Amino acid sequence: MANLNLGRTEFGDQANAGITLSEEEALSILTDWVPNERLQLHMKQVARIMKSWALEEENLDEEEAHKWWLAGLLHDADWEKYPEKHCSVIIEELESRKIDPSIIRAIASHGPSHFGVEPSTKMEKMIYVFDELSGFIHAAALIRPTRYEGMDVKSVTKKLKTTSFAAQVNREEINDALGRIDRSIEEIIEFILRHQPQVS
Ligand SMILES: [Fe+2]
Repeated sequence: MANLNLGRTEFGDQANAGITLSEEEALSILTDWVPNERLQLHMKQVARIMKSWALEEENLDEEEAHKWWLAGLLHDADWEKYPEKHCSVIIEELESRKIDPSIIRAIASHGPSHFGVEPSTKMEKMIYVFDELSGFIHAAALIRPTRYEGMDVKSVTKKLKTTSFAAQVNREEINDALGRIDRSIEEIIEFILRHQPQVS
């Protein structure tokens, strides 16, 4: 596997704080960079959950929540086209567009064991928490005849213990991410189940 360590822990420029992409600009990066629709859906799901969490659990305003949405939406933007340079290509793109550094650092924090960046802010910790877990929950929904409908927290925690199911999803990473926040796995799964199905 490629070494994806970014070799740095500071991103962007504080002078650009508050500068973001519009929803349209961000979605056009998504469609230009990510041909795989399943990956696009994953990124939109993480974006939706991040924004919902910012608004509902952190009581942030729309402007701040938009940053959370952007980090979620673009965190895997370079994964399909540049797997060997995953994370560094989108980071450099956002740095060259002079985007708010908090968004760039959140993207850089979504996999500390890969990118070598420890999540420190709430946005950074939550993108790490939601990334693998929302992907796992989506995989679990896809094998159910009614998809997300009627899916409960218990069925997800049970599936997490079944190591043969969605074996590519790293359970250790999920536990590591959850260990960095003061919420239970049940609360997080419940939150994802409440918001993720609204993305198509
Ligand atoms: Fe992801």
